[in-house]
Amino acid sequence: MTSPGTSRGSGRGKLVLCGEHAVVYGHPAIAVAVDRRTDVRLAARPGPTAIHSAHADDRLREALLEVIEPEGLDVEVDTELPVGRGMGSSAALAVALVRARAAAGGEAPLDPDEVYRRAMPVERRFHGNPSGVDVAVSARGGCLWFRRGEPPIRETIEPGPWSFVVLDSGCAGDTRELVAGVAARRPGIDADLDAIGALVEDARRVLHDPVALGERLTHNHELLRRIGVSTPALDELVALALGAGAHGAKLAGAGGGGVVLALVDDAEPVLAAARSRGVAAFATRPWTAS
Ligand code: MEV
Repeated sequence: MTSPGTSRGSGRGKLVLCGEHAVVYGHPAIAVAVDRRTDVRLAARPGPTAIHSAHADDRLREALLEVIEPEGLDVEVDTELPVGRGMGSSAALAVALVRARAAAGGEAPLDPDEVYRRAMPVERRFHGNPSGVDVAVSARGGCLWFRRGEPPIRETIEPGPWSFVVLDSGCAGDTRELVAGVAARRPGIDADLDAIGALVEDARRVLHDPVALGERLTHNHELLRRIGVSTPALDELVALALGAGAHGAKLAGAGGGGVVLALVDDAEPVLAAARSRGVAAFATRPWTAS
């Protein structure tokens, strides 16, 4: 630590509107930051660095040590995000940590591209082969058009008049395993990955038409099912949301558990349907930095 006292940083959670998994292979994705975040607090302490988090384990410790010193810190992590549910909890943590570490070093607030550059090694520790979309949208906020590359394309786009309901399957998916599983099923599933890429391009053209966009989202779910990352519980949540009047619904994030994202005009009927089945659900909108 180069400065005494406590330093703070935060990072936003996200939802991938469309394009997950295919984005790992260079196709575009559209993601939105959400109004839930992770906060990190750093303070000096004598002895080895201590991590205080409800989810502290060896993987978390190794990932955080990409950015902070193994000695001399108390690291406190607080999150409003469900962990392992496809809402970008690891990216939000990486972004929060990078910002807190920069503040601790007396640096001026970092621009989002620099946050991205510093946070990606942390995300790689968590997920092995991340595309970077989660870190990019967590660092920037708003709605992002993203394409992997050196450097990646990160274009802020105007969100549509969107209202979302997030429905939680109640179980976590392991992004590292799911991404590795998709890699192992290639090249047999490449046509479906290409179809997801084309669908994202198409979705961008209809972003401001909830009915047309909803159709693309539901089709995206079908393609994600075909590449083997959905589960019966996620398929049921998609059906539940559509049955309650959503314009479209899909799993969001790596799948294998996690959440379903439903595009709605009115959140209440979908929330009521979720309640009646004992499914945890909440309404959310894109979050943009002011
Ligand atoms: C996870 O939010 C999105 C994935 O495409 C992985 C990645 O892009 O790093 C499944």
